[in-house]
Amino acid sequence: MATRNTSSRSSGSGSKNKITAMLKADHKKVRKAFKDFEKLDPQEDPEACQALVTQTLAEIEVHAELEEQLFYPAARGAIKEEDLIDEAEVEHMTAKVLIEQLKGMGPDDEKFAATFKVLGEYVNHHIQEEEGEMFKQLTQAGAEWDTVLEEMLAQREQLMQEKGMPVEAQADEAPGAARAAPRSAGARAGSEARPQAAGKASRSRSEKQ
Ligand SMILES: [Fe+2]
Ligand SMILES: [Fe+2]
Repeated sequence: MATRNTSSRSSGSGSKNKITAMLKADHKKVRKAFKDFEKLDPQEDPEACQALVTQTLAEIEVHAELEEQLFYPAARGAIKEEDLIDEAEVEHMTAKVLIEQLKGMGPDDEKFAATFKVLGEYVNHHIQEEEGEMFKQLTQAGAEWDTVLEEMLAQREQLMQEKGMPVEAQADEAPGAARAAPRSAGARAGSEARPQAAGKASRSRSEKQ
């Protein structure tokens, strides 16, 4: 089986850890945004509320797309309980319903704050399952983590550009990951790894649709 394959995949453990560190840094940032929202009053400060919600939804969308297109497919081959991936995908779909509702709302909508709060509850639950179960079960030999990391970094940059998010924010938006991991990975994905990563990324996207 794949458990003792240490030849071509021996360097994959570092990349696996970098991927989970990057995803955890995203999680941390989003959790903070939901907490920050609780301190705001949509009536008194509608602009700040709207800005925080818009920013958070964009961040969740980029994160979810990276997981769905690249991370989950790789994780399927590297996890004991594949059900965890199915559940995560269903949770993403549920969250997207709320995200779409929120995009059509403004702070003056009666259910704006409630909808964002419920999204936060879903997301927190989902994060707990990813970090508490899924990430812990991932084997090193089950996936080509080096390639997955390169693809994720390249696609992250592309998605952020598409959404008009500042790409240079990647380092400071993920302080934990930046310190714990990506430095060199980011530089790598920015240079020779890009063509291969972009090709694979777009292929997996078209397969998905
Ligand atoms: Fe996640
Ligand atoms: Fe997720």
